[in-house]
Amino acid sequence: MTSTTPQNAPFGSILTDVMAITWYRKGQWETSELKAVGPIEMHPAAHVLHYGSECFEGFKAYKWADGSVHLFRMDRHIERLRQSARSLLLPEPDANQVAEMVRAVVDRSRSAVPDAPGALYLRPLLFGTMPNIGAATTPTDEACLVVLASPVWDYFSGGGRPLSVYLEEHATRCASHLGMVKTGGNYAAALGPTLAARRDKNADQVLFCPGGEVQEAGAANFLAIKEGHILTRGLDSTFLHGVTRDSLLRMAPELGYRVEERNFTVDELIEWVKTGEAALSGTAAVLSGVGTLLRGDKRYQVGDGEIGANTKRLRTALTSIQHGTAPDRHGWLTRV
Ligand code: PLP
Ligand code: COI
Repeated sequence: MTSTTPQNAPFGSILTDVMAITWYRKGQWETSELKAVGPIEMHPAAHVLHYGSECFEGFKAYKWADGSVHLFRMDRHIERLRQSARSLLLPEPDANQVAEMVRAVVDRSRSAVPDAPGALYLRPLLFGTMPNIGAATTPTDEACLVVLASPVWDYFSGGGRPLSVYLEEHATRCASHLGMVKTGGNYAAALGPTLAARRDKNADQVLFCPGGEVQEAGAANFLAIKEGHILTRGLDSTFLHGVTRDSLLRMAPELGYRVEERNFTVDELIEWVKTGEAALSGTAAVLSGVGTLLRGDKRYQVGDGEIGANTKRLRTALTSIQHGTAPDRHGWLTRV
């Protein structure tokens, strides 16, 4: 018997028992179906297996104290899925159809939505199924779209412990024009440097800083935070435009923070953390405080090495909206 219970299961390791699925064939998306989660029959020549035509999304539904269930910024995530599909020349899914598929999966998984601080993680996945191993420079003309759901708690093991982050100034996370595309190949590309940093530096995460400029972590954006001030890289094609990042930056002025979006260097970051804070933002990461930066063989403590007061304040402001204990002034939630 394993002692794994949902509450201590690693992020994403358990799924609810239902998925929504649709296929793109003969130039159109078919009507979607709800099915038991299980294997999908696919040809071994399928485009995705050879040429990596795949993209996905990740966002959450939250159960409020009154039992109602609410999706956070679903429209924005669906728009990003469509943008990823366009970049990879995959058939673009219809936004309304994806939203309907998500709603149907959440509705059928209602009893599996964890109480706060847990959530139901939604994972739409789009991949090319055209069976043609010669199609290396031809887009797929068939595809499959699936929506999975997973009850989740903390993404980073160790709960609220401050993270140690290795500053990777040489290896890049992905090809520079694909940073804003949420495609599996980017995560495959980041795996080697991430495992090396874990093994050699005992780091929890890697912060990619190509050419000495701070970019993003393997599965989260990066914010440098101080009392009344947030600094983060400005949007460009080299990294994922996080919905959590956008939400925090939009809330920041209401909470008295000035937002500065610009490129900054590792040297500047090391100076910043003498007194400032650092954090990783993302759907899975929420806003996770960084306690240590690792550069080469040097260690730099971030502030007092604990999760900073401003990081905690911003995280609570965000999760209070998500969990329905603060008003949703931006219209970010959709009740299912
Ligand atoms: N950057 C990467 C590489 C990610 O995988 C994620 C997570 O989705 C993010 C940033 C944060 O994006 P979001 O806040 O939309 O979840
Ligand atoms: C997310 O926050 O949705 C992510 O992309 C993390 C995921 C790779 C586990």
